[in-house]
Amino acid sequence: MRFGKAAAAAVFGLALAMGPARAEFPSGPVTLLVPFAAGGPTDVVARLVAKVMERELGKPVLVENATGAGGTLASGRLARSTPDGQTVLLHHMGITTSATLYRKLAYDPKTAFDFVGQVTTVPMLLVSRPDFPPADFKALLAYLKDNKDKVTLANAGPGAVSHVCGMYFMQLTGIKLTTVPYKGTGPAMTDTMGGQVDLLCDQTTGATGPVKNHKVKAYATATRERIAVLPDVPTAAEQGLNGFEVGVWHGMYVPAGTPKPTIDKLSAALKAALHDPEVKQRFADLGTAPVTDEEATPENLKAKYFSELDRWAPIIKAAGEFAD
Ligand code: MLT
Repeated sequence: MRFGKAAAAAVFGLALAMGPARAEFPSGPVTLLVPFAAGGPTDVVARLVAKVMERELGKPVLVENATGAGGTLASGRLARSTPDGQTVLLHHMGITTSATLYRKLAYDPKTAFDFVGQVTTVPMLLVSRPDFPPADFKALLAYLKDNKDKVTLANAGPGAVSHVCGMYFMQLTGIKLTTVPYKGTGPAMTDTMGGQVDLLCDQTTGATGPVKNHKVKAYATATRERIAVLPDVPTAAEQGLNGFEVGVWHGMYVPAGTPKPTIDKLSAALKAALHDPEVKQRFADLGTAPVTDEEATPENLKAKYFSELDRWAPIIKAAGEFAD
């Protein structure tokens, strides 16, 4: 059969209108960026979820710890990536606090990202090296008043939730301690267990094991209610410090401009991970709650992200502490 000139032009025109052929997603291994060090709470969540997403997507999901600048280096790296779903970021609420905390970012937090879905909610607690002298939280507050120049408080840098939690603790108690930044609370927890630093405010994902194994001392949870996996640790409010509540949430992001079918595939894989019995069990053991199907959606994460940007901006501006 011979094509007439008009038919050939029509086919050519149609091809132009459709644009260049898009590779099927995923076209190869997916890189899952984690903004903090290996072994820390964000890394643990990411690796558990990645294992199931890999099964769902039919391609390897490779976790890469892109650490530095309180998580903003990984966010910047995502913002600069090709929007094809092959590079994904798993970050916690620090992605919204750093938007105000950092004087200058290499990306615009309002336009840089598209949203896959929320992943978890995680409580926090205050722990210390195992041989730290105060016996309980009340004794800790008295000890800190008398020894504030000597006590060190670890965190994962400005923008990390351990930083937010520590700053908030110091603000509420009026006690300023010397802070020690790490590339994640994985290494910060190792040094707390080893006695190189005194105190750390961490997520249950990282702290539950060391508390249960008596590798660190737990003084108080930063929650309204006690934490189910650590029922013997009282809340700060039970021990006289009201308002010390810091809840962490994780979300999954892609660069702005990622095609919707790609985002939908990632979101479906994320939901499958949150339903996986092994992931659910590990999360439960670590006091880490998977979100519901409705929350693990692009729409929910987008709404949460922008409402948290608005929530934190005035709080951080009022605190007047910024990072470069
Ligand atoms: C981590 O994974 O190391 C933590 O989430 C860091 C932090 O405190 O934000």
